Amino acid sequence: MSASKRILFVCLGNICRSPLAEGIFRDYVEKTGQSHLYEIDSAGTSGWHAGEMPDKGSIRIAAARGIDIRSQRSRKLTHEDFDKFDFIVAMDASNIKKIKELREPREGQLLLLRDFDPDSSGRDVPDPWSHGDEAFREVFDIIESCMPRMMAKISETETEKSFA
Ligand code: 4NP
Repeated sequence: MSASKRILFVCLGNICRSPLAEGIFRDYVEKTGQSHLYEIDSAGTSGWHAGEMPDKGSIRIAAARGIDIRSQRSRKLTHEDFDKFDFIVAMDASNIKKIKELREPREGQLLLLRDFDPDSSGRDVPDPWSHGDEAFREVFDIIESCMPRMMAKISETETEKSFA
């Protein structure tokens, strides 16, 4: 019995926030010996940066915290992602809107990352694109702080194991 749960992190460009979320979550499950339980990916609601590596600011802050995200490549969210992934985790409210415009998610499938922020729920992970290192540092810390509660939520939620 080793059914994995499939998690997709989504932002606008898939070069700043969601690559960090993917990298931080992957690191978290590896360090807690749970890699076999999760499939992890990220995507953008736009295809503006498809094929590109993560932004240098994200690569730099991730590396400073011991996480290598350089193998990631940006891609656009697709209709099929809604079939494949158990959870789609959005970085901000405008991502939620765009995701729903593409396709209606299943009940409980679409989550807002900062609803798992220990300090205050319902807010956006700010977009650090074209801002300096301090903005990327802030984004890293926000995403990281949301991980334990997000992990608790998805690990306790039963998912169908037979999605296409
Ligand atoms: P992300 O940041 O959604 O966190 O990847 C952005 C990246 C690129 C753009 C906007 C936000 N852009 O306008 O190209």
